[in-house]
Amino acid sequence: MQSPMSSPSPIFHFLLFFFFFLSPSFAAFLAPITKDPTTSQYILSIYLKTPLQPTKLVLDLGASFAWVDCTRRYKSSSYHHIPCSDPLCSAIVSLACSNCFRRPAPGCANDSCALFPENSVTRQTIIAEALVDSLALPSTDGRNPARFARVPEFVFSCAKTSLLKGIAKGVTGFAGLGRSNFSLPAQVSTAFSSPFLFALCLSSSPSAPGVAFFNSGGPYYFLPEIDLSKSLIYTPLILNPVGSTIITYYLHPSDEYFIGVSAIKVNGKDLQFNKTILTIDENGFGGTKISTTTPYAVLETSIYNAFKEAFVSESAALNLTVTTPVKPFGVCYSADDVLSTRLGPAVPTVDLVMKNDDAFWRIFGANSMVRIGSKDEDLWCLGFLDGGAHPRASIVIGGLQMEDNLLQFDLEKKRFGFTSSVLSHGTMCGNFNFTINGNLKQN
Ligand SMILES: *[C@@H]1O[C@H](CO)[C@@H](O)[C@H](O)[C@H]1NC(C)=O
Ligand SMILES: *[C@@H]1O[C@H](CO)[C@@H](O)[C@H](O)[C@H]1NC(C)=O
Ligand SMILES: *[C@@H]1O[C@H](CO)[C@@H](O)[C@H](O)[C@H]1NC(C)=O
Ligand SMILES: *[C@@H]1O[C@H](CO)[C@@H](O)[C@H](O)[C@H]1NC(C)=O
Ligand SMILES: *[C@@H]1O[C@H](CO)[C@@H](O)[C@H](O)[C@H]1NC(C)=O
Repeated sequence: MQSPMSSPSPIFHFLLFFFFFLSPSFAAFLAPITKDPTTSQYILSIYLKTPLQPTKLVLDLGASFAWVDCTRRYKSSSYHHIPCSDPLCSAIVSLACSNCFRRPAPGCANDSCALFPENSVTRQTIIAEALVDSLALPSTDGRNPARFARVPEFVFSCAKTSLLKGIAKGVTGFAGLGRSNFSLPAQVSTAFSSPFLFALCLSSSPSAPGVAFFNSGGPYYFLPEIDLSKSLIYTPLILNPVGSTIITYYLHPSDEYFIGVSAIKVNGKDLQFNKTILTIDENGFGGTKISTTTPYAVLETSIYNAFKEAFVSESAALNLTVTTPVKPFGVCYSADDVLSTRLGPAVPTVDLVMKNDDAFWRIFGANSMVRIGSKDEDLWCLGFLDGGAHPRASIVIGGLQMEDNLLQFDLEKKRFGFTSSVLSHGTMCGNFNFTINGNLKQN
């Protein structure tokens, strides 16, 4: 028996063509994120240049734009510079124009708009030309990657090899995902006239990559068929009015992501400390920042001391006795004493309570403890560090706390979505299905 659909008319094919290739409603993209085991850096894999070349960049959530080492092996038929008089040059808050007297290279032209790319691991910065070239990412339906789509005029900064110091092998730059109009998600959203919205799921496993979704509020499917967008809880994104970059962009608001944590609880008990420092002051100090280039959470000293005391005392109730800590950690337990659960080692829970509502980000052992193994000892150490007495941000939520959590950054609605541990939803960030689905024809 034949259904009416099995022999579609040419008109139907024609309509199908328009639906798949011209529909502007579907423009979500993805990029895999791996964790470098040596440096604990999160690496985003994208494609640049013509012909397309795979490019690995350190994922830098708070950075304003991407930068790439242009001095080695830069071969592309599609790059061009931005002249100083181009309106694009003032739009990217460029502070300088550069005159180049070196041997001509892609990142080297006279009368070229310049930027200050930063290595946020070493806190090094240089002046370097801005460049425009083609970027490509796989599109996605939220389940699988599909065909590539290009951002033909992707703006980034062309740095030198020396800026790569301290960076994982095989990586040639940084991918800035910050609030700026020139961050990677911002440019992808501009290119496809879609919302400035992206999500990250960092994998704790070096062998199973996590994933970044761009331009998509969901679905975000992870095996076995779990849509994590349904588990998001929201809190406002907070703008820090003063940027933190060392020498540059003076008086420009920060492109980093801050959220309004108003209290911290350990095993449900509220920590006592002066909560004034949880609000950002007029100099940009205080508040809670989210950072992918900080491996473990960092707390201002008064918060750290209250936190450590509460954690040690609550752990004692679980019969855990601290042992000599291993630097940089301040609290460690012998791994033999700590029970395992599906949410990691059995230790007290930590809640980051959000301002103005009762939403809280619950942190279980998998996101609070670090396994330190050597031939002499096997420890679980508390992955929250002392940040000193007067740090810029009072709380920095680091990579360890973000792993196996789905986090959404919605710049249109100015809100931050989080799931807490997706292990409790029966999946993990390494469970995205990266098999290319050739049947998806969008874009
Ligand atoms: C830049 O200008 C200098 C001095 O005029 C010249 O020697 C050099 O070749 C120029 N470089 C490029 C890349 O055009
Ligand atoms: C970023 O782009 C938006 C929309 O195009 C514009 O309204 C805003 O002024 C831009 N921001 C900056 C800092 O240039
Ligand atoms: C809390 O800190 C702020 C700013 O450092 C200070 O002005 C205030 O007096 C402190 N409050 C208490 C109760 O100590
Ligand atoms: C702690 O140890 C004591 C004595 O060995 C035992 O009675 C108690 O049940 C233990 N508590 C927990 C939470 O394991
Ligand atoms: C992964 O996706 C491919 C393409 O859609 C599908 O054929 C395959 O069954 C999926 N794998 C699993 C484990 O579901």
